[in-house]
Amino acid sequence: MGRPVVVVGLLGTVLDRGGRGPARWERWRPTVALCQQTDLRVTRLELVHEPAWAGLGRYIKDDIGVVSPDTDVRLHAIEFGDPWDFEAVYGALHELARSLALDPEREDILVHITTGTHVAQICLYLLVESRVLPGRLLQTGPAKVPGAAGAQGARGHRRGRPQGAPGTAEAPDEASEAAGRAPDPAGRTVIIDLSLARYDRLARRFEDERRAATSFLKAGIETRSEAYNALIDQLERVALRSEAPILLTGPTGAGKSRLASRIWELRRQRHLVKGPLVDVNCATLRGDGAMAALFGHTRGAFTGAVGERRGLLREADGGVLFLDEIGELGLDEQAMLLRALEDKRFLPVGADREVQSHFQLIAGTNRDLGDAVRAGRFRDDLLARIDLWTFELPSLAERPEDLGPNVDHELERQSRASGRRIAFNKEARARFDRFAVAAPWPRNFRDLGGAIERMATLAPAGRIDEATVEEEMSRLDRTWRRLEQPATRHSAAADRLIGDRELDRFERVQLADVLEVCLASPTLSEAGRRLFAVSRAHRSTPNDADRLRKYLLRFDLDWDVVRAARSNG
Ligand SMILES: Nc1ncnc2c1ncn2[C@@H]1O[C@H](COP(=O)(O)OP(=O)(O)O)[C@@H](O)[C@H]1O
Ligand SMILES: [Mg+2]
Repeated sequence: MGRPVVVVGLLGTVLDRGGRGPARWERWRPTVALCQQTDLRVTRLELVHEPAWAGLGRYIKDDIGVVSPDTDVRLHAIEFGDPWDFEAVYGALHELARSLALDPEREDILVHITTGTHVAQICLYLLVESRVLPGRLLQTGPAKVPGAAGAQGARGHRRGRPQGAPGTAEAPDEASEAAGRAPDPAGRTVIIDLSLARYDRLARRFEDERRAATSFLKAGIETRSEAYNALIDQLERVALRSEAPILLTGPTGAGKSRLASRIWELRRQRHLVKGPLVDVNCATLRGDGAMAALFGHTRGAFTGAVGERRGLLREADGGVLFLDEIGELGLDEQAMLLRALEDKRFLPVGADREVQSHFQLIAGTNRDLGDAVRAGRFRDDLLARIDLWTFELPSLAERPEDLGPNVDHELERQSRASGRRIAFNKEARARFDRFAVAAPWPRNFRDLGGAIERMATLAPAGRIDEATVEEEMSRLDRTWRRLEQPATRHSAAADRLIGDRELDRFERVQLADVLEVCLASPTLSEAGRRLFAVSRAHRSTPNDADRLRKYLLRFDLDWDVVRAARSNG
């Protein structure tokens, strides 16, 4: 004897009803039929029905007693509440599954999903898939009738599922009507093991979807850098599951803007956004115009405001707003942006009523916003709001293993753009690769893209030879040497205030930082207090403002000039 076979199933209030006369023995009644199989002996049948169908339940139990006297039929009267409510049905069946105390070690457990409402069938499937019901699925069907719909061979779905109406459980469809006259009332059975490879393929499809998405984010470039691939993997999950702001950091040319637009496109392909991508470089938003450009303005809000302007935030409604170089945004704009993010509403310039816009924010920055917060240039509360998901794009120099695939990608791009096939000579490629893995690439993909573009243009007959590579290498070296300025990281406004003064690095660094503090301070005194915080604690009569004024004067600068630089951006 094999192991005991336990079937868990629902009483079919339509399919199992075959009338009370002798003709019922000619009909296919799924619950009776599954106990009539020659190759499947049911030891125990756990048969679930709603209390209202107790009569049919007993009747079916008795009929099973006739065809299979050894089968132990146990009836379970379960009140589903609303049989079309997933939560109610799942909850009730889940509880039943627990109370049955099934033992997959000792018993062969089958879950019959042919009867019951669609809701109940789906719930049973889920309970099997999640192993709450530790068994295999059992599908039954009427015997093959020549010409009957759905008579398609032994495996898979053999007939259209009955269309139930709310509250009435399943109704017979044409196939089962036809089957009612079938010669063999025992019908057929199919056992489905969700843990088998066939169903793994379903799981693999999800994996393929994921791979397609990450490859899309990488623009189809086969990257090998582990750190970069891990970043993209996580970004893919966030992009498809969350609408929270995303912050992309990394050096210039590392691909922040491009990634932002890929995220938007991916979300659009998956029908997660309908609206546009609005791409704004905050460094181009300066002074009074910045507020109006971002948040819009009413007619006549200020001199020159002839018409009304919707503003970039409202243009991004339903879509994605990419604020590149968000660190360049003024403090007032930052405050308004925070409100727009938290409440989805804000006040256009000159308006007396707030407007709404639902957009996803992607922010880009190549500076450390933490530094900007400490210098008083960036609002801490805004940073807290946008750095929930921060992705730090590595520089090209940090991804030497990806140089090869990226060179290939650029070559293809150049070939497509110029309409002629462009390739390296073997030696030339080797020469360039050696150079590339050791080069600093300070402007990252911009430098690499530029280099390939120049070589592609100069290459005789589309072949990049060693001479072309040598020439390009020295051009890059020259350019990069020019870029090697003192390692200052300061704002565009500070840059402009320093202008082209001839300064030693020693002085330039100090002046730049003093100016940053000035730019972020409301008054000269406040700037002085911040700059001389340590020494003022040791003095009785602080004269910070005076010290600062004198310092600025050494560079022909004064408070008014600084203030003007700040408001003109
Ligand atoms: N992963 C990448 N591979 C190849 N080229 C890239 C990649 N990311 C960006 N680029 C290209 O490099 C240039 C700069 O990218 P961009 O996204 O504007 O950088 P960022 O916004 O970080 O300064 C663009 O021409 C872009 O198409
Ligand atoms: Mg950019």
